[in-house]
Amino acid sequence: MKTAPFEEGIEPQPATASCQVEDFGIAPQNCLGGEPLSPCIIIIFGASGDLTFRKLIPALFRLHCNMGLPHPIRIVGCARTPMDDGEFRESLKTGVLAGGVHDVSCWDAFAACVRYRPLEYLDPGDYRLLARYLEELDEESGTQGNRIFYLAVPPALYETVSRCLGAAGLAQEGMDGKRWSRIVVEKPFGRDLESAAVLDRVLHENFLEHQVFRIDHYLAKETVQNVLMLRFANSIFEPVWNRQFIEKVKIIAAETLGVGKRAGYYEEAGVLRDMFQNHMMQLLSLTAMEPPSHFETELVRDEKSKVFRALRPFPVEQLYEFLVSGRYEAGIVDGARVPGYLEEPGVSSGSLTPTFASMKVFIDNWRWQGVPFYLTSGKRLAKKLTEIQIHFREVPHSIFRHVIGQRIHKNVLTLGIHPDEKISLVFQTKNPGATLRLRPVTMDFHYSQNYAGPLLDAYEKALIDCMRGDQMLFWRQDAVELTWSFLSPILERCETCTDRSRMIFPYEAGTWGPAEASRLEEG
Ligand code: BG6
Repeated sequence: MKTAPFEEGIEPQPATASCQVEDFGIAPQNCLGGEPLSPCIIIIFGASGDLTFRKLIPALFRLHCNMGLPHPIRIVGCARTPMDDGEFRESLKTGVLAGGVHDVSCWDAFAACVRYRPLEYLDPGDYRLLARYLEELDEESGTQGNRIFYLAVPPALYETVSRCLGAAGLAQEGMDGKRWSRIVVEKPFGRDLESAAVLDRVLHENFLEHQVFRIDHYLAKETVQNVLMLRFANSIFEPVWNRQFIEKVKIIAAETLGVGKRAGYYEEAGVLRDMFQNHMMQLLSLTAMEPPSHFETELVRDEKSKVFRALRPFPVEQLYEFLVSGRYEAGIVDGARVPGYLEEPGVSSGSLTPTFASMKVFIDNWRWQGVPFYLTSGKRLAKKLTEIQIHFREVPHSIFRHVIGQRIHKNVLTLGIHPDEKISLVFQTKNPGATLRLRPVTMDFHYSQNYAGPLLDAYEKALIDCMRGDQMLFWRQDAVELTWSFLSPILERCETCTDRSRMIFPYEAGTWGPAEASRLEEG
């Protein structure tokens, strides 16, 4: 099997030097600390769906177990499926257990906060009834009129739900800032620049910008948040974080999962809309952005937008040199035989949807001029792996070359996001012994090292920030539009060119994607 295009250059490391975490006398922090959260009701539209079941409820439940939820809180599921509170709670319990949350001892107390309301998404009358119901719930439980409307529904329903909420008066906030109302939308935010702008206009018919939370769960991952800490809370990295020392940057989000039951959505999206417009672009901006003057929401988001603005327009005329797309075929993943994309339920036999892409992009500014950023993401690859690799340049002159006659491997700093939440640096040492030989070793910091508090998963963090009203880890609309401006010409070119089918290279499930991907680095 060929190696990952992104594993090139790193020898198997014969030695590992791990690092000690100094605690400097600081007591382990409880990551749920901070200001107490205001009581609220979280209303989840799409309550019978996969996202609710697999992510939202397990995240809320874990928060509950770690005393991270406000008191009181109510969680109201809304969907078309007729169900009563008891049936809804039972269905969620199965999801929570399947999600590997084993501390069920506090389930009953959590379940007591959960309600269910059947609702037809297109029926404004149902939203009026919901409004009345929420008021009664406020009265009964003391949730003080604060609401989060979480849209875990197909994106086609975002505009309708938002308008119906507005028409039912549910977007209104108290004049004194006490009674707040927030709407959370999941990506994709539109499917191109135009539809993203339309969606935004519709959301703003009823909600003000401070009420809109565009969620990208990657931003809320611990290790992703840590990129800025690493870069800007240490003085040793920033001086070398530029074109003078960095040869290339690789950002990888490889998955072993296939499209699963999401063909309806994925057929329309493909890997570029599903992973690149959002997660990959966020990882890119955190890696490349300038330091803001303060760690404040708008200042951080300003710097990210500047990166997107500096993206070199993609040379669509030379698509082959800058983008490789692929689609998985049957193969073996984690020891099990899996079908190809075209055999997945709901995928049309003539589908031209890519499940893999590798792209070379440049950022036209002083810091990054000429440094290629390789962004790679795909489904049904050999391993679930998300990481950012910073490849440093070779030493300018090797004093060892004539003695040991070998190439000196370059330093690589890896920011591991999954499965290893870590920072590791590959560097050269002398191989012990009489003969002069170099050997690359890694110095690893594992994120959970010497940390006893609960590690928040991305949805937990995103939900807490939404309850706090902190938008730092959420997309701002200008960034959404800038990334669409960058990607839309690529998508248009890919989706309209006559030799479309030839542009999607097949790869066997369980490998590292199409062999053609390696040519991006050769060019
Ligand atoms: C989602 C995509 O946003 O991210 C999925 O829609 C993808 O297709 C998922 O599987 C990956 O997230 P994570 O956190 O598992 O890397």
